[in-house]
Amino acid sequence: MALLEVQDVHSYYGSIHALKGVSISVDQGEIVCLIGGNGAGKTTTLRTISGLISPHVGTIFFEGEDLLAVPAHDLPAKGIAMVPEGRGVFAKLTVEENLEMGAFHRNDKAGILQDIKESYELFPRLGERRKQVAGTLSGGEQQMLAMSRALMSKPRLLLLDEPSMGLAPVLVDLIFDTVQEINRQGTTILLVEQNALMALDIAQRGYVIETGRIVLAGNAQKLKDDPQVKEAYLGG
Ligand SMILES: Nc1ncnc2c1ncn2[C@@H]1O[C@H](COP(=O)(O)OP(=O)(O)OP(=O)(O)O)[C@@H](O)[C@H]1O
Ligand SMILES: [Mg+2]
Repeated sequence: MALLEVQDVHSYYGSIHALKGVSISVDQGEIVCLIGGNGAGKTTTLRTISGLISPHVGTIFFEGEDLLAVPAHDLPAKGIAMVPEGRGVFAKLTVEENLEMGAFHRNDKAGILQDIKESYELFPRLGERRKQVAGTLSGGEQQMLAMSRALMSKPRLLLLDEPSMGLAPVLVDLIFDTVQEINRQGTTILLVEQNALMALDIAQRGYVIETGRIVLAGNAQKLKDDPQVKEAYLGG
């Protein structure tokens, strides 16, 4: 049984038919990437999985449980966390307060403190800025914080929406390395990226989405060698 099974999902914004039958499965322990151009439906797919949009048609199962019956605010407790596009940190709260918010459904104080410590080990930059309000962090630091905050809920599945967006190359490398490290530590990852080459490099499998439909799927290495993918997403 797959950890996450999305089947034939159709999602709308009013009359706009954004997802037209999306099916994606993610197995325990994998990094799976979802690539595609602007407006293809990547964010909508993650928003639908995380319960922020209710699909008109389709099913979503997580560990065999019907996710469409679970309210979005209960997802962290179920083991799913999302780092949204644009990061969504609480600008007026400090780094440390943001991390505490990520653990809102937990009540194991000692465990929370330990996990905050581990966030600072994963990203020392955050430790140095623990009392700084998040709105004044750089884009890269906000990405680190958004990822760390998501990890505070101890997810089994982490949904990442374009973590490399707007970052300098050296920070992009750091974020991709960290995604791999988080995966090695046991978290399954569904990664949305426009940086298709790097995403396919760290993923085991990938899906390509175009105008709300999955048009290609399979082994990440094979997708990298696919002429259609090369032409459209890897610069030929
Ligand atoms: N709130 C909204 N209201 C109406 N239409 C929307 C809304 N959000 C997204 N859309 C439309 O749904 C489609 C899919 O958008 P989505 O944000 O999922 O794309 P994306 O693949 O994440 O693109 P990008 O790479 O630019 O982030 C687009 O045509 C977009 O215009
Ligand atoms: Mg998007």
